Amino acid sequence: MPTLNPSSSTATGKATRPDHLVLRLMTADDKQEVAGLFAETFKREPLGEYSGVQLSEGMSIAEASIQDPVSFVVEDTKLESPHRLVAFRTSCVYTAEKLAAKRKNVEEHGSSNPVEAILNRMEELWLAKTTVFKSNPEAKVMKFIALGVDSRYEGLGLAKELLNAAMDKAKEMKCDAIMVVASAFATQHLFKNRLGFEEMGSVRYSDFVWKHEGSEERPFETLLQPEFLEVFEKKLTMESA
Ligand SMILES: CC(C)(COP(=O)(O)OP(=O)(O)OC[C@H]1O[C@@H](n2cnc3c(N)ncnc32)[C@H](O)[C@@H]1OP(=O)(O)O)[C@@H](O)C(=O)NCCC(=O)NCCS
Repeated sequence: MPTLNPSSSTATGKATRPDHLVLRLMTADDKQEVAGLFAETFKREPLGEYSGVQLSEGMSIAEASIQDPVSFVVEDTKLESPHRLVAFRTSCVYTAEKLAAKRKNVEEHGSSNPVEAILNRMEELWLAKTTVFKSNPEAKVMKFIALGVDSRYEGLGLAKELLNAAMDKAKEMKCDAIMVVASAFATQHLFKNRLGFEEMGSVRYSDFVWKHEGSEERPFETLLQPEFLEVFEKKLTMESA
């Protein structure tokens, strides 16, 4: 077990990250570790807790997260390699073209499991409401993919810091907006109340119907806390102009 120094506080009472916790961009060398950390942390995420999480899902998430240099990790330099990563905020960048290819694939092949199906539904809700591509067909949207913090490091503000780093990166890359699906109470609170995101749609977990191989099922019928899965957007164009 690591010895985690308590985070210090500024005069305003805001927590500051101890020096041995280093926030940096994710690289291809981090893939395996991010996959493992995803599988571990997402056991506590509502959909993962309900349906179970496989290491293979972590590998696909990690793979998707290094397509663009926009994902971040927190490394604890006091830990032994290769188990130094303690948090991640992974992302990718959507263009209209990339998104259209993804939607076509979903239409043709459907979703391979209920979690993918509900996430695809959230993306549809966002697409129905967003004006980003209507006002600019060349627009770029940063999609936040996954966020996880090792349970020993929760409550230190690492998620908030990772989110701020990713938002700065989106502005630096001249993205027009950020979109994210938030499944947990803590992230729904952060996007709504702390980071100025707009809610673009929600689905009650227990009502979600997955049409699959000619049958219909409610895969999250008894998932009641939180009640809703929510999709958010933050426009950046005005801010980065
Ligand atoms: C969600 C998670 C990333 C938060 O990480 P963290 O580093 O502890 O988060 P932070 O300390 O930066 O901030 C958490 C915020 O959520 C709030 N929060 C925590 N639990 C909450 C709850 N049950 N309901 C509402 N708000 C909650 C905290 O009070 C804090 O907000 P504040 O700064 O306004 O007080 C972490 O708990 C985790 O990895 N969970 C499992 C995976 C997961 O659910 N990922 C997100 C999927 S969308």
